[in-house]
Amino acid sequence: MIETRELTKQFKDVRAVDGINLTVARGELVALLGPNGAGKSTTLRMLTTLIPPTAGNASVGGFDVVRQQREVRLRIGYIGQGNGAGHSQRGRDELVSQGRAYGMRVRPARERANELVDSLGLGDVADRTVSTLSGGQRRRLDIAMGLIHSPELLFLDEPSTGLDPQNRANLQEHILRLREARETTIVLTTHYLDEADSMAERVIVIDHGRIIADDTPQRLKAKHVGDHVILGFTAEHDAISAARTLHAERHGTEVRVTAEDGPQQAPKLLDDLSAAGLAVSSIEVTRPTLDDVFLTLTGRSLREGRAEETVEV
Ligand SMILES: Nc1ncnc2c1ncn2[C@@H]1O[C@H](COP(=O)(O)OP(=O)(O)O)[C@@H](O)[C@H]1O
Ligand SMILES: [Mg+2]
Repeated sequence: MIETRELTKQFKDVRAVDGINLTVARGELVALLGPNGAGKSTTLRMLTTLIPPTAGNASVGGFDVVRQQREVRLRIGYIGQGNGAGHSQRGRDELVSQGRAYGMRVRPARERANELVDSLGLGDVADRTVSTLSGGQRRRLDIAMGLIHSPELLFLDEPSTGLDPQNRANLQEHILRLREARETTIVLTTHYLDEADSMAERVIVIDHGRIIADDTPQRLKAKHVGDHVILGFTAEHDAISAARTLHAERHGTEVRVTAEDGPQQAPKLLDDLSAAGLAVSSIEVTRPTLDDVFLTLTGRSLREGRAEETVEV
């Protein structure tokens, strides 16, 4: 559905996107994860034909984003960052207008609008003026707008930014359900680590306009960080012997073992220690988050910039 080669965007002295090579297959749900300013929105804006690349190329649904803009646009839905302010129409009418703008006839546009109102749980509010909807309701209406013409591919730029945790969970559930029902290919951007982790089967980590990792959340964590098994001892000399036996790091009475699969490897570690006559007083297995992955890859935490990022919408 998407194929880019060395896709690049230069704004004066800022290289917002720096040679991205990306392939997305039909039916995939992919999250572009990266800090504010990483180049996520610029990438989506090029893929949706809103801005031209400076170099490289991209095809979407088999069509070139520069030479075949119209064909691309007919096949995609795009919900930009912080869409949907100040509508005076009712939600349902807004949807029908959007469908008409895509060249749909009135009756199919109405039918499709009704279907989306139901599937996005907007039944109670679709006949209210858009400006009276809550943030979460409006975001779901935005998604319905992006889906009115039944696109094969949906782009969502930070769909849940600014929503509270409950509305965010609700929106995520709707997105997953839509995808199951229609097998729509979805590319979303997010700076919420937990969102990328729980929703996407593939996470593309972007930093400074480049892709620095691309895999399932599980594999990214296993490959770049790994689990830790933390073993506690009552006496420091036991910890010293244990660290030697297991070839592991020690901090005081704690020994920390890096493991590919912590829960699976822990019993074996205990057996080895027991065979060496060493008694463990506590055991803890920690599994990494995507933030640990980002930290390992870049030396920075994605969480650090959070306070600033919540201001942007
Ligand atoms: N229209 C523009 N003109 C100049 N610089 C821009 C423009 N749009 C984005 N940028 C810059 O490009 C970089 C990437 O921005 P963006 O794609 O919006 O990042 P993200 O969506 O990951 O937060 C940032 O440094 C941003 O300031
Ligand atoms: Mg953005």
